[in-house]
Amino acid sequence: MKILIAGARGQLGRDCTQVLGAAHAVTSFDLPDMDITVPEQVRRTLEQIRPDVVINCAAYNRVDDAEEHREIAWRLNAEAPGVLAAACRKSGARLVQLSTDYVFDGQRPPPGAYTEEDEPHPLSWYAQSKLGGESAVQQGCDDWIILRTAWLYGRHGVNFPKTMLHLALRDPNRPIRVVNEHYGTPTWSWRLAEQIKVVIEAGAQGLFHATAEGYATWFDLAACFLAALRVPHRLEPCRDVDYPTRAVRPANTILENARLKKAGLNILRDWRADLEEYAARYGTALIAEARAGLQK
Ligand SMILES: NC(=O)c1ccc[n+]([C@@H]2O[C@H](COP(=O)([O-])OP(=O)(O)OC[C@H]3O[C@@H](n4cnc5c(N)ncnc54)[C@H](OP(=O)(O)O)[C@@H]3O)[C@@H](O)[C@H]2O)c1
Repeated sequence: MKILIAGARGQLGRDCTQVLGAAHAVTSFDLPDMDITVPEQVRRTLEQIRPDVVINCAAYNRVDDAEEHREIAWRLNAEAPGVLAAACRKSGARLVQLSTDYVFDGQRPPPGAYTEEDEPHPLSWYAQSKLGGESAVQQGCDDWIILRTAWLYGRHGVNFPKTMLHLALRDPNRPIRVVNEHYGTPTWSWRLAEQIKVVIEAGAQGLFHATAEGYATWFDLAACFLAALRVPHRLEPCRDVDYPTRAVRPANTILENARLKKAGLNILRDWRADLEEYAARYGTALIAEARAGLQK
């Protein structure tokens, strides 16, 4: 298959490039070569590459900043997927769009999980814009896959476990306060890339939830990661109200991969097992990078 990846420098984009590149003809793009908000650039690139599948890994992911930078968040998360959808319809390519657990309001008491049948109700501008992207894809082309994922971490880019590592290495005795009352599922971008490969190769279509199995709080995630790396730290659980943010975050976004399981396509596994594999595979490099960052 010929696969085009947009937003290829991000954490999922890089892993998709590697995982899919091992079996398919992958061409990866990021800014400035293909800006997905510019229809002419998107159209020209698709005409040139003639891909069978386009995977959109690009997004505006800064949840708090999106409250202020509404226009750019909307352009990238809600409108650009429509631009890609129109180009895919014209060229006959299938579009894979990534979306988020934050489309739900999180009112369901944990460990209740949301399935694809549940009605979205976004709380933040980021979540609204991502839901707008889902609609744009559904309306803009016929051959699409939307995967809602959550709490992504990977080898590349910025993510929560890396931030925790940085804070612990900066001063192991300084308390790190982490919210212990939001529930969701940390998902390894490498494993998600493998899931995307399975879904594409199966020729699946439609909306799917795609997160690791089980659930955690942000505190659980930080504790599990730092323990796996054996990095000394002083984590302290705190409440949501102790850590005010500009964007409202849903309290429970545990997702059930109901449709992937029904189709026999789910390869996502327990979040702890993946986090431990991630720590074992990249721990030394992550610690070295974090230490180098502290010296700057
Ligand atoms: N991160 C999470 O926790 C999380 C949770 C749920 C869902 N998701 C979704 O999963 C997908 C992948 O997320 P991620 O964490 O891998 O994202 P990421 O690391 O933030 O990467 C996004 C990429 O998009 C690029 N980009 C920005 N504007 C662009 C434009 N106009 N045209 C083309 N590329 C552009 C960025 O380039 P620059 O670096 O140059 O800006 C970056 O390489 C996204 O759809 C995201 O919404 C993520």
